[in-house]
Amino acid sequence: MTASHWTESEWRAKLAPFHQAVEELKIKFKGIKQEYDEMGIHSPIEFVMGRVKPVRSIIQKAARKNIPVEDSIDRMKDIAGIRIMCQFVDDIYAVVQLIKQRNDLNILGEKDYVREQKESGYRSYHFVIEYPIQTVSGPKNILVEIQIRTLSMNFWATIEHSLNYKYGGEIPTPIQKRLQRSAEAAFLLDEEMSKIKDEIQEAQKVFAKRSEKNK
Ligand code: GTP
Ligand code: MG
Repeated sequence: MTASHWTESEWRAKLAPFHQAVEELKIKFKGIKQEYDEMGIHSPIEFVMGRVKPVRSIIQKAARKNIPVEDSIDRMKDIAGIRIMCQFVDDIYAVVQLIKQRNDLNILGEKDYVREQKESGYRSYHFVIEYPIQTVSGPKNILVEIQIRTLSMNFWATIEHSLNYKYGGEIPTPIQKRLQRSAEAAFLLDEEMSKIKDEIQEAQKVFAKRSEKNK
């Protein structure tokens, strides 16, 4: 593993802007949920998480990608990360639209692993954005990775991630197979929930019409 030339306090200073970006974005996305809640409308955002990649992981990833650790701060796209959890698959695309219409961030890239899942079985919608923060020495653009997924996709990804960690990135084939089957089950759960949601909404419409007639 490549060692870093930076001291602990140098790392802290380098990562401070990433912490600021994560905190600001968490507040903004939580604000969207609150707005929906206050209107009494289903929020496409269930909950929001954010993190700054730990120094240890930054050093490991820089070594894996063969880039000097000191350059990694400018080149790694996921030092700042936001994760948005949704109840339904449709909600993911509602959040995608909400992000696309914002003028406080700049989208640099997007990947739809929801419609095109990875071989591992991983599903999520990804954005890489540029987010401006204001520092005492002026504005600074921070790269942030946003992952949008259902609770079911999150359950799968969290478990797969810890197994990857446990097996040092090389999950034994039989377990990989099981994970692919679990991904399929997670997909079916999302499908079933969407169907139930549609039926509930349909029933609510019929109910609303009936009570309209009875007035
Ligand atoms: P890195 O994988 O981060 O080097 O970037 P990339 O350019 O390959 O981007 P990609 O969109 O493939 O992955 C970015 C992030 O998505 C990862 O850091 C993970 O958080 C998540 N991710 C991607 N693939 C998987 C997967 O198979 N399993 C899990 N659990 N997470 C994944
Ligand atoms: Mg990857």
